[in-house]
Amino acid sequence: MCGIIGYVGKRQAIPVLLQGLYKLEYRGYDSAGIAIIDKNTSEIKAEKQVGKIKDLHEKLWGKKLEGNIGIGHSRWATHGSPSIENAHPHISQSKTFAVVHNGIIENYIELKNELENKGYKFISQTDTEVIAHLFEDLYTGNLLDTAVKVAEKLEGAYAIGVISKFHPDTLIAIRKGSPLVIGVSKDENFIASDIPAVLEYTKDFIILDDNEIAVLNKNKVELFDIGKNKLKKEITKVNWSVSSAQKSGFKHFMQKEIFEQPRAITDTIAGFNSLDKTELFNILENIDRLYIIACGTSLHAGLVGKFWIEKFAKIPVEVDFASEYRYRDKIITDKTAIIGISQSGETADTRFALLDAKNEGAKTIAIVNVVGSSLSRESDFTLYTYSGPEIGVAATKTFISQLVVLFLLALELGLKRRTISKEDYNYLIKALSKIPSKVEKILLLDKSIKDLAYKYMNTQDFLFLGRNINYPIALEGALKLKEISYIHAEGYPAGEMKHGPIALIDENMPVVAVAVKDKFYEKILSNIQEVKARKGKIISIATEEDKQIRQLSDDVIYIPKTLDELYPFLTIVPMQLISYHIATLLGKDVDQPRNLAKTVTVE
Ligand code: M6R
Repeated sequence: MCGIIGYVGKRQAIPVLLQGLYKLEYRGYDSAGIAIIDKNTSEIKAEKQVGKIKDLHEKLWGKKLEGNIGIGHSRWATHGSPSIENAHPHISQSKTFAVVHNGIIENYIELKNELENKGYKFISQTDTEVIAHLFEDLYTGNLLDTAVKVAEKLEGAYAIGVISKFHPDTLIAIRKGSPLVIGVSKDENFIASDIPAVLEYTKDFIILDDNEIAVLNKNKVELFDIGKNKLKKEITKVNWSVSSAQKSGFKHFMQKEIFEQPRAITDTIAGFNSLDKTELFNILENIDRLYIIACGTSLHAGLVGKFWIEKFAKIPVEVDFASEYRYRDKIITDKTAIIGISQSGETADTRFALLDAKNEGAKTIAIVNVVGSSLSRESDFTLYTYSGPEIGVAATKTFISQLVVLFLLALELGLKRRTISKEDYNYLIKALSKIPSKVEKILLLDKSIKDLAYKYMNTQDFLFLGRNINYPIALEGALKLKEISYIHAEGYPAGEMKHGPIALIDENMPVVAVAVKDKFYEKILSNIQEVKARKGKIISIATEEDKQIRQLSDDVIYIPKTLDELYPFLTIVPMQLISYHIATLLGKDVDQPRNLAKTVTVE
């Protein structure tokens, strides 16, 4: 939820830390801070501010803080409200250690009591402050030994960065349960919660695993397990470009990411095709039931995937909220496989649900965007989406890429199981290859969708309706609108309306209906008539050249024709644009909506 960064090297640390924090801000943005070791005095100097990174940046203007080693943090409050005291870095009592932390220390009250009994004074309400005091309390003269002793005391999830005035050239990092990467370069090294934070300095990364410690100096990175055994780990080269993590002329990351979707689809198809899937099909060979678990937008992708897998591969699929699935009485046999879908690969609900199922004997597959993320390493097989970094909190291009992976997986499974013919497979693959240009065509409607957004921006509530494979798209449309515009929105299967929600309809209620020319067209027209009869306002997402829909709708967004099964790739795009424009017209911060974090690493 929070973002952490650390630097040791030849440059001034503060600009590097600030740049990194701007990139990490999407992970948490209620307060921020940095600490460095002063070049001249070797004392720890820290600055913190409530608000966004720019507020911290402004606070730092004109301050003389010079040092080549430091840590930084962007916070999303879990323990204690956003305040300067609760902002990280937390400093130990005698100002000898500074700590940044992402995660939750579950036994912090017990540790706090122990430390208070020894005379330590706490100034924050956070769980993190115990770590700073523990470093001071357990200090042996050796930083690695001390880190091990501290780690042995801590229960919960954490990624920690630490600097100490006793070791002014050394940065130390510990990971257990929260993401942490080490950026490796010449004469400088980095720690960060994710890759884009330091992408402008290096493309070489070491992905730290749980219970591992990294000791970084300017010229070297040493890795240890919790028993202090030295580890050798491979360097992962990432091919993300720096510009992929910048706005490139767009007003917001979300807007840029919506417009990147044609490229994300093409890259994900290419990535899927180039992968050796022998192991994947070994895992899936004899399974008779699949569970898909995920949260938020990833869950909606899973709901679409269910239609495809059941249709093409004839395997029964159940889709569940990861947070619910984890605590169910699971029915797992040696023929059960679990697919966990997650953009970040760090969502705690999804990770732990998948790990629990794995421990009970399920085979596990991850669909993930972030290379080397926890979920990918914890699963038996990973299918990557090739969206590039997604910075906007609202998932857009990663949703469409998740759909690509699920669609291709369903088709390949179908082919292997002989539940679809080679001709049908080729026909569907060909149709998929035309999707990027069709999405491009929809993106050209941006201006008219903005006009439509202007017309409806002052509405209190919205309904989104769809049937069959477009029903999850209605759910996703509603989620997009509510998370970035704070307008109340519900997604419903259109046929379910008459069983209750229709009572909500009056002349103030806009209803976005997916009314494409598929085999449910006539049925959705009837559902639209029901809304119309109660004076609701209809915004239809319809297939080009459909004149009939005009008679029934207040507004129509026309999208290109495709196969029935492929419409979700197209119907989602106008919904993303409607939400984006309504939110920006209302002056909302679409990239960092209130109360949300891009990666939710707490249960
Ligand atoms: O990283 P994940 O895909 O696991 O994240 C899951 C959800 O937290 C995420 O999709 C969330 O709902 C987004 N803000 C939706 O736009």
